[in-house]
Amino acid sequence: MLNFEFFYAWTKEHLNINLDGYKEKQLQRRIGTIMKNTGAATLEEYAIKIQADPIVKKNFLNYITINVTDFFRNREVFDEFEDLMVTYLEPRFGPLKVWSAACSTGAEAFSLAMIMDKHKIAQAEKITATDIDETILAKAKKGIFTSVEIKNVDEENRKRYFTHEDHTFYLSNQIKNKVAFKKHDLIGDRFGRDYHVIVCRNVTIYFKNEVKEELYQKFSDALVPGGLFFTGATETIYSPEKYGLIKRASFIYEKI
Ligand SMILES: C[S@@+](CC[C@H](N)C(=O)[O-])C[C@H]1O[C@@H](n2cnc3c(N)ncnc32)[C@H](O)[C@@H]1O
Repeated sequence: MLNFEFFYAWTKEHLNINLDGYKEKQLQRRIGTIMKNTGAATLEEYAIKIQADPIVKKNFLNYITINVTDFFRNREVFDEFEDLMVTYLEPRFGPLKVWSAACSTGAEAFSLAMIMDKHKIAQAEKITATDIDETILAKAKKGIFTSVEIKNVDEENRKRYFTHEDHTFYLSNQIKNKVAFKKHDLIGDRFGRDYHVIVCRNVTIYFKNEVKEELYQKFSDALVPGGLFFTGATETIYSPEKYGLIKRASFIYEKI
Protein backbone atom coordinates (compact mmCIF):
# COMPACT_ATOMS: atom_id res chain seq x y z
CA MET A 1 0.00 0.00 0.00
CA LEU A 2 1.51 3.28 -1.07
CA ASN A 3 1.16 6.05 1.48
CA PHE A 4 0.90 9.16 -0.67
CA GLU A 5 -0.05 11.39 2.26
CA PHE A 6 3.31 10.62 3.83
CA PHE A 7 5.08 11.17 0.51
CA TYR A 8 3.42 14.56 -0.19
CA ALA A 9 4.38 15.76 3.31
CA TRP A 10 7.91 14.49 2.71
CA THR A 11 8.32 16.27 -0.67
CA LYS A 12 7.02 19.47 0.92
CA GLU A 13 9.53 19.29 3.75
CA HIS A 14 12.58 17.94 1.94
CA LEU A 15 12.21 19.11 -1.66
CA ASN A 16 10.12 22.22 -1.05
CA ILE A 17 7.54 20.97 -3.57
CA ASN A 18 3.84 21.14 -2.81
CA LEU A 19 2.03 18.36 -4.67
CA ASP A 20 -1.36 18.96 -2.98
CA GLY A 21 -2.76 20.98 -5.89
CA TYR A 22 -2.10 18.38 -8.60
CA LYS A 23 -4.77 15.96 -9.89
CA GLU A 24 -4.32 13.01 -7.58
CA LYS A 25 -4.91 9.94 -9.75
CA GLN A 26 -2.70 11.18 -12.58
CA LEU A 27 0.06 12.17 -10.17
CA GLN A 28 -0.04 8.90 -8.23
CA ARG A 29 0.13 6.90 -11.44
CA ARG A 30 3.18 8.90 -12.52
CA ILE A 31 4.91 8.57 -9.16
CA GLY A 32 4.17 4.83 -9.07
CA THR A 33 5.72 4.32 -12.51
CA ILE A 34 8.92 6.23 -11.87
CA MET A 35 9.29 4.74 -8.39
CA LYS A 36 9.21 1.21 -9.79
CA ASN A 37 11.92 2.11 -12.31
CA THR A 38 14.27 2.80 -9.38
CA GLY A 39 13.60 -0.60 -7.81
CA ALA A 40 11.95 0.92 -4.72
CA ALA A 41 9.01 -1.13 -3.41
CA THR A 42 7.46 1.53 -1.18
CA LEU A 43 7.28 5.31 -1.13
CA GLU A 44 9.38 5.29 2.04
CA GLU A 45 12.13 3.42 0.18
CA TYR A 46 11.77 5.76 -2.78
CA ALA A 47 12.10 8.82 -0.54
CA ILE A 48 15.35 7.40 0.87
CA LYS A 49 16.67 6.83 -2.66
CA ILE A 50 15.70 10.36 -3.73
CA GLN A 51 17.60 11.77 -0.78
CA ALA A 52 20.67 9.60 -1.28
CA ASP A 53 21.09 9.77 -5.05
CA PRO A 54 21.10 13.10 -6.94
CA ILE A 55 20.25 11.32 -10.20
CA VAL A 56 17.15 9.65 -8.70
CA LYS A 57 16.18 13.07 -7.33
CA LYS A 58 16.68 14.78 -10.68
CA ASN A 59 14.68 12.10 -12.50
CA PHE A 60 11.84 12.40 -9.99
CA LEU A 61 11.66 16.19 -10.36
CA ASN A 62 11.85 15.99 -14.17
CA TYR A 63 9.15 13.37 -14.32
CA ILE A 64 6.80 15.20 -12.01
CA THR A 65 7.17 18.57 -13.65
CA ILE A 66 6.69 17.33 -17.26
CA ASN A 67 8.80 19.79 -19.22
CA VAL A 68 7.52 19.11 -22.75
CA THR A 69 7.41 22.35 -24.72
CA ASP A 70 7.92 23.79 -28.18
CA PHE A 71 8.66 27.07 -29.90
CA PHE A 72 5.45 28.60 -31.30
CA ARG A 73 3.50 25.65 -29.85
CA ASN A 74 0.17 25.21 -31.70
CA ARG A 75 1.24 27.45 -34.54
CA GLU A 76 -2.21 28.70 -35.64
CA VAL A 77 -3.06 29.93 -32.13
CA PHE A 78 0.39 31.51 -31.79
CA ASP A 79 -0.07 33.27 -35.15
CA GLU A 80 -3.37 34.66 -33.91
CA PHE A 81 -1.68 35.87 -30.73
CA GLU A 82 1.12 37.48 -32.75
CA ASP A 83 -1.50 39.32 -34.77
CA LEU A 84 -3.21 40.58 -31.60
CA MET A 85 0.11 41.77 -30.20
CA VAL A 86 0.75 43.84 -33.34
CA THR A 87 -2.74 45.13 -34.13
CA TYR A 88 -4.25 45.45 -30.66
CA LEU A 89 -1.86 45.33 -27.70
CA GLU A 90 1.01 47.48 -28.97
CA PRO A 91 -1.20 50.31 -30.37
CA ARG A 92 -3.27 50.34 -27.17
CA PHE A 93 -0.57 50.05 -24.53
CA GLY A 94 2.82 50.81 -26.12
CA PRO A 95 5.69 49.11 -24.23
CA LEU A 96 4.39 45.77 -23.01
CA LYS A 97 4.89 43.96 -19.72
CA VAL A 98 4.87 40.21 -20.42
CA TRP A 99 4.93 37.06 -18.23
CA SER A 100 5.47 33.53 -19.49
CA ALA A 101 4.37 31.34 -16.54
CA ALA A 102 5.48 27.68 -16.32
CA CYS A 103 7.95 28.40 -19.12
CA SER A 104 9.91 25.14 -19.13
CA THR A 105 12.99 25.54 -21.41
CA GLY A 106 11.94 29.07 -22.34
CA ALA A 107 10.70 28.15 -25.83
CA GLU A 108 7.48 30.07 -25.25
CA ALA A 109 9.13 33.17 -23.77
CA PHE A 110 11.73 33.20 -26.56
CA SER A 111 8.96 32.85 -29.17
CA LEU A 112 7.32 35.97 -27.70
CA ALA A 113 10.68 37.76 -27.66
CA MET A 114 11.17 36.94 -31.38
CA ILE A 115 7.70 38.27 -32.20
CA MET A 116 8.41 41.49 -30.28
CA ASP A 117 11.81 41.90 -31.88
CA LYS A 118 10.52 41.24 -35.39
CA HIS A 119 7.67 43.77 -35.07
CA LYS A 120 9.73 46.24 -33.02
CA ILE A 121 7.26 46.06 -30.12
CA ALA A 122 8.83 47.80 -27.13
CA GLN A 123 9.15 46.00 -23.80
CA ALA A 124 8.24 47.78 -20.54
CA GLU A 125 10.80 45.42 -18.94
CA LYS A 126 12.38 42.06 -19.77
CA ILE A 127 9.84 39.29 -20.38
CA THR A 128 9.46 37.50 -17.05
CA ALA A 129 9.70 33.74 -17.58
CA THR A 130 9.07 31.53 -14.57
CA ASP A 131 8.94 27.85 -13.68
CA ILE A 132 9.00 25.74 -10.52
CA ASP A 133 11.84 23.57 -11.85
CA GLU A 134 15.31 25.05 -11.33
CA THR A 135 17.03 22.48 -13.55
CA ILE A 136 14.92 23.46 -16.52
CA LEU A 137 15.46 27.17 -15.78
CA ALA A 138 19.23 26.62 -15.87
CA LYS A 139 18.84 25.07 -19.32
CA ALA A 140 16.53 27.88 -20.44
CA LYS A 141 19.09 30.56 -19.48
CA LYS A 142 21.70 28.98 -21.74
CA GLY A 143 19.52 29.30 -24.84
CA ILE A 144 21.06 26.21 -26.47
CA PHE A 145 18.69 23.90 -28.35
CA THR A 146 18.84 20.85 -30.60
CA SER A 147 17.50 20.95 -34.15
CA VAL A 148 14.55 18.84 -32.93
CA GLU A 149 13.73 21.37 -30.20
CA ILE A 150 13.58 24.24 -32.69
CA LYS A 151 11.77 22.34 -35.46
CA ASN A 152 8.84 24.78 -35.25
CA VAL A 153 11.00 27.86 -35.76
CA ASP A 154 10.64 28.97 -39.37
CA GLU A 155 13.61 29.46 -41.66
CA GLU A 156 13.52 33.26 -41.38
CA ASN A 157 13.61 33.27 -37.55
CA ARG A 158 16.19 30.51 -37.52
CA LYS A 159 18.56 32.50 -39.70
CA ARG A 160 17.90 35.74 -37.87
CA TYR A 161 18.11 34.53 -34.27
CA PHE A 162 20.28 31.38 -34.14
CA THR A 163 23.79 30.33 -35.03
CA HIS A 164 24.55 26.64 -35.19
CA GLU A 165 27.20 23.97 -35.15
CA ASP A 166 25.81 20.80 -36.71
CA HIS A 167 22.58 20.05 -34.83
CA THR A 168 23.21 22.37 -31.88
CA PHE A 169 21.54 25.78 -32.15
CA TYR A 170 22.61 28.83 -30.13
CA LEU A 171 20.04 31.55 -29.56
CA SER A 172 21.34 35.08 -30.16
CA ASN A 173 22.02 37.38 -27.20
CA GLN A 174 19.62 39.83 -28.82
CA ILE A 175 16.74 37.45 -27.92
CA LYS A 176 18.23 35.97 -24.74
CA ASN A 177 18.65 39.45 -23.27
CA LYS A 178 14.95 40.16 -23.67
CA VAL A 179 13.99 37.47 -21.15
CA ALA A 180 14.61 37.19 -17.38
CA PHE A 181 14.14 33.72 -15.88
CA LYS A 182 13.27 33.09 -12.27
CA LYS A 183 11.87 30.36 -10.07
CA HIS A 184 8.17 30.68 -9.24
CA ASP A 185 5.61 28.19 -7.94
CA LEU A 186 2.16 28.90 -9.35
CA ILE A 187 0.70 27.24 -6.29
CA GLY A 188 1.82 29.31 -3.38
CA ASP A 189 4.08 32.10 -4.69
CA ARG A 190 2.85 35.67 -5.11
CA PHE A 191 1.88 36.97 -8.56
CA GLY A 192 3.15 40.22 -10.10
CA ARG A 193 0.88 43.03 -11.27
CA ASP A 194 0.00 45.15 -14.30
CA TYR A 195 0.87 42.68 -17.04
CA HIS A 196 -0.35 43.32 -20.59
CA VAL A 197 0.30 39.69 -21.53
CA ILE A 198 0.27 36.51 -19.46
CA VAL A 199 0.99 33.25 -21.23
CA CYS A 200 0.39 30.13 -19.15
CA ARG A 201 -0.03 27.03 -21.26
CA ASN A 202 -0.14 23.30 -20.68
CA VAL A 203 0.29 23.28 -16.93
CA THR A 204 -3.17 23.92 -15.42
CA ILE A 205 -4.25 20.57 -16.93
CA TYR A 206 -2.26 18.91 -14.15
CA PHE A 207 -4.02 20.83 -11.38
CA LYS A 208 -7.23 20.06 -9.46
CA ASN A 209 -10.26 22.13 -10.48
CA GLU A 210 -10.30 24.29 -7.36
CA VAL A 211 -6.61 25.11 -7.83
CA LYS A 212 -7.20 25.90 -11.50
CA GLU A 213 -10.07 28.27 -10.62
CA GLU A 214 -7.96 30.06 -8.04
CA LEU A 215 -5.17 30.44 -10.62
CA TYR A 216 -7.48 31.91 -13.28
CA GLN A 217 -8.60 34.54 -10.76
CA LYS A 218 -5.00 35.33 -9.83
CA PHE A 219 -3.96 35.63 -13.50
CA SER A 220 -6.92 37.92 -14.14
CA ASP A 221 -5.96 40.08 -11.13
CA ALA A 222 -2.39 40.28 -12.45
CA LEU A 223 -3.49 41.75 -15.82
CA VAL A 224 -4.30 45.38 -16.65
CA PRO A 225 -7.84 45.88 -18.06
CA GLY A 226 -7.56 45.03 -21.76
CA GLY A 227 -4.56 42.75 -21.15
CA LEU A 228 -4.53 39.27 -22.68
CA PHE A 229 -4.28 35.83 -21.09
CA PHE A 230 -3.09 33.07 -23.43
CA THR A 231 -3.83 29.45 -22.40
CA GLY A 232 -2.91 26.04 -23.85
CA ALA A 233 -4.81 24.48 -26.73
CA THR A 234 -6.69 22.10 -24.40
CA GLU A 235 -7.27 24.67 -21.67
CA THR A 236 -10.55 26.34 -22.52
CA ILE A 237 -11.87 28.49 -19.68
CA TYR A 238 -15.59 27.88 -19.21
CA SER A 239 -17.48 30.96 -17.94
CA PRO A 240 -14.45 33.27 -18.22
CA GLU A 241 -16.60 36.18 -16.94
CA LYS A 242 -16.45 34.49 -13.50
CA TYR A 243 -12.82 35.66 -13.40
CA GLY A 244 -13.36 39.05 -15.03
CA LEU A 245 -12.28 37.77 -18.47
CA ILE A 246 -13.95 37.59 -21.89
CA LYS A 247 -13.04 35.30 -24.72
CA ARG A 248 -11.17 37.19 -27.42
CA ALA A 249 -10.24 34.17 -29.62
CA SER A 250 -9.71 30.44 -29.06
CA PHE A 251 -7.50 30.11 -25.97
CA ILE A 252 -7.03 33.89 -25.71
CA TYR A 253 -8.92 35.85 -23.04
CA GLU A 254 -9.10 39.59 -22.39
CA LYS A 255 -9.29 41.16 -18.93
CA ILE A 256 -12.48 43.21 -18.68
C1 LIG B 1 4.22 20.87 -20.14
S1 LIG B 1 5.28 22.15 -19.62
C2 LIG B 1 4.59 23.54 -20.47
C3 LIG B 1 5.63 24.48 -21.00
C4 LIG B 1 5.10 25.62 -21.85
N1 LIG B 1 4.25 26.50 -21.08
C5 LIG B 1 4.37 25.12 -23.06
O1 LIG B 1 3.15 25.15 -23.08
O2 LIG B 1 5.02 24.66 -24.00
C6 LIG B 1 4.74 22.38 -17.96
C7 LIG B 1 5.70 23.21 -17.12
O3 LIG B 1 5.03 23.57 -15.91
C8 LIG B 1 5.97 23.58 -14.86
N2 LIG B 1 5.26 23.47 -13.58
C9 LIG B 1 4.65 22.37 -13.04
N3 LIG B 1 4.11 22.68 -11.85
C10 LIG B 1 4.36 24.01 -11.64
C11 LIG B 1 4.05 24.92 -10.59
N4 LIG B 1 3.37 24.53 -9.52
N5 LIG B 1 4.46 26.22 -10.72
C12 LIG B 1 5.17 26.62 -11.81
N6 LIG B 1 5.49 25.81 -12.84
C13 LIG B 1 5.09 24.52 -12.75
C14 LIG B 1 6.85 22.39 -15.18
O4 LIG B 1 8.10 22.47 -14.53
C15 LIG B 1 6.95 22.45 -16.70
O5 LIG B 1 8.10 23.13 -17.11
